[in-house]
Amino acid sequence: MKDLIDRLAAGGELSDEEWRFLIEGSCDRQLLFDEADKVRRRYYGTEVYIRGLVEISSFCKNDCLYCGIRRSNGSAERYRLSKEEICACCEQGYGLGFRTFVLQGGEDSFHTTEWVADLVFALKEKYPDCAVTLSLGEKPRRDYEIWHQAGADRYLLRHETASRPHYEKLHPPGQTFQNRMECLRNLREIGFQTGAGFMVGSPFQQTDDLIADLRFLREFQPHMVGIGPFIPHHDTPFSAKPQGSLERTLTMVALTRLLLPKALIPATTALGTIHPKGREMGLQAGANVVMPNLSPVSVRGQYSLYDNKACTGQEAAEGLEALKKSVAQAGYRVVVDRGDAR
Ligand code: 5AD
Repeated sequence: MKDLIDRLAAGGELSDEEWRFLIEGSCDRQLLFDEADKVRRRYYGTEVYIRGLVEISSFCKNDCLYCGIRRSNGSAERYRLSKEEICACCEQGYGLGFRTFVLQGGEDSFHTTEWVADLVFALKEKYPDCAVTLSLGEKPRRDYEIWHQAGADRYLLRHETASRPHYEKLHPPGQTFQNRMECLRNLREIGFQTGAGFMVGSPFQQTDDLIADLRFLREFQPHMVGIGPFIPHHDTPFSAKPQGSLERTLTMVALTRLLLPKALIPATTALGTIHPKGREMGLQAGANVVMPNLSPVSVRGQYSLYDNKACTGQEAAEGLEALKKSVAQAGYRVVVDRGDAR
């Protein structure tokens, strides 16, 4: 077990059998988490970076079968924020100590390329010491270039699964694996700090698909990797599918830390949703980022990607003091910093 971990950390390749043993075998999980934590501490010490998440629109033209804000969900209440509302969220966030703002939303054509560029420009002008991260889905390369020129620093676009046949089971025919991957390559080439990521326990996922995710990460070398358990949403075709497991998700976080020692890896909201201590356990398995919600309280419930999505308490920016305490209890400390990759 330890020899496998050492080989991984040294950049060596593992066979399918070896990967399978680490992902689902009877190996010592705690040892795996501890080794990932050691690697994390080597590069980042005990620092935990916070990102203020602003969910700017719940309109989406896509129809991902797992997601609660998919186009076909006629029961979803939709909202979009104005520039003024978004700036007010960031102002509040800056006061609380956030130095990264993440603007995330469904693929909403109402928010045009220029609209987003203006917003990014205004935020970077007002907060030159802050990073702006966009997470607005698949766009033409030109849009990404315009946003990068406007000052956006980072872009999050989870690949969702690195296996094409599996991708096709999670998405309708118009949403192709090829386009997703092309977007990721474009983002990195343009110069964004780029984030990929995937769900653990998504419907039809096999261990081989998770192995493909890890091999993809090793090859693509993203700066950021978001990993969370799949959680069913009652108004989607996957409403009756089982939720992803806590242990499997923590395992994937730890393996990702070993593969990408310098990556920024959030302890995701989904992880905090399936277990009261999920976020802390994520940090102790190699994660080094948390992303509290800075959206206006009045709309938070409507950004419903999955059932019971946490958006209050320590998941909320107002809960930052409580979050700092539980991060400290877990052995780390929240810092006021842009939190760029080392
Ligand atoms: N369970 C867990 N994660 C989900 N996401 C979307 N729907 C779900 C769900 N039902 C994740 C996707 C997406 C990110 C914004 O949220 O990975 O990229």
